[in-house]
Amino acid sequence: MKNRSGFSSKLGFVMAAAGSAVGLGNIWRFPNLVANYGGGLFVLIYIILVVTVGSTLMTTEIALGRRGQTDAYGCYKKLDKRFSFLGFFGILIPFFIASYYSVVGGWIVKYLVEFVRGNLTQLTGATYFSNYIASPVAPVVYHGTFIIISMLILLCGVKQGIEKSNKIMMPALLVLSVVIAVRSVTIPGGLSGLAFYLIPDFSKFTFESVLMAIGQVFYSLSLAMGIMVTYGSYMGRDVNIQKSVKMTELFDTCVAFLAGMMIVPAVFAISGGNPDGINAGPGLLFETLPNVFSHVPFGGIFGALFFLLVLFAALTSMISLMEVVITWLIDRFQMGRIKATLLTTVSVFAFGIPSSLGFGVWQDVTIFGRSIFDFIDFTANNVIMPLVAIATCIFVGYFWGVKNIFEEAEISGSFKNKKYYTIMVRYVVPICIAAVWITGIL
Ligand code: PHE
Repeated sequence: MKNRSGFSSKLGFVMAAAGSAVGLGNIWRFPNLVANYGGGLFVLIYIILVVTVGSTLMTTEIALGRRGQTDAYGCYKKLDKRFSFLGFFGILIPFFIASYYSVVGGWIVKYLVEFVRGNLTQLTGATYFSNYIASPVAPVVYHGTFIIISMLILLCGVKQGIEKSNKIMMPALLVLSVVIAVRSVTIPGGLSGLAFYLIPDFSKFTFESVLMAIGQVFYSLSLAMGIMVTYGSYMGRDVNIQKSVKMTELFDTCVAFLAGMMIVPAVFAISGGNPDGINAGPGLLFETLPNVFSHVPFGGIFGALFFLLVLFAALTSMISLMEVVITWLIDRFQMGRIKATLLTTVSVFAFGIPSSLGFGVWQDVTIFGRSIFDFIDFTANNVIMPLVAIATCIFVGYFWGVKNIFEEAEISGSFKNKKYYTIMVRYVVPICIAAVWITGIL
């Protein structure tokens, strides 16, 4: 077999996997959910789900990938032909997500540029953001810029591109998060926001909050979309799978938690204790926060640092999404990396354009009652992804066999809690996901 390029060490793997996991989901979605579903209580539920449900699926996907030693589609096909469809979706979902993720990535580049140019006041205009995303040309150009930056990293390959860039961007992101969180908590009035963020409010505990937390675990850990299978195929046989999963989860959860510390206290301090700004959807990043920064001493600098951090988070996720498609082109069609990367870049860019235009000139276009952007997001994340996750558990739990997972993991150390894993993969995880799936599409 041709020698497959891969990550050079456990750290290399963990940084890349964490890079994929840490993204807009951590920075924007997590604080939002915490603020809405019971503060510290939600954090607790989330962490429990990460180390149980999240760990099970992540371990499974990485082990599958390392056993398959090929792209996500080829992997399922090789292990059991009847399940190749899982691999097919494992390529398709990242492609769909990449297309609109890049549109948001473009907005981030735009805001970073404006912060660096010192145009903070302009960004705080009430209709600035909605006008900007509705314009036909600039957002598409920035979408292209974002994807070209990702392309340049991907052209350098797995070790030199993905691993190296993640090893730089992820620690930088962690440091920036701490700096900004400290700034945020120390704004006068910030502490009451911190209390709101962290003190459990048991009256807000509902079944729905658990479902939201499960959905967030999948999204945040980049599960059920071919990514961990692909990255698993690049993982060395000397790297311990369970330990790497723990470290990746720890990193991802820390950044999510810090994101809340950056955002919630600052929003509270500026609004006099009104949490509404946290619920502003994309407006949180692009409207509420510029407004917050405009009230804080040295806000322009902190704003620029913040958007740099968000850019790192988005880029490292974007390259993981694109790599799934690239590696499929390389392995299945024997394409060279350069050709595969260029083809992926151009197609993802083209496919993303309608999502961008859907905020402006095509705003009347709807598919099943949703805007183009929302439709792709909803189909990929709420419809197909949970099905892939359930089918993966069924495949491993009842067809391929948990024994093979243990065997693969034990090449590099012991596998802890086999019985527990078996119960999780056969019953608990599929049932949890089915619950999320059904409530999500109703
Ligand atoms: N996990 C990323 C986040 O938390 C999002 C993502 C989803 C990345 C799907 C890659 C694939 O934002």
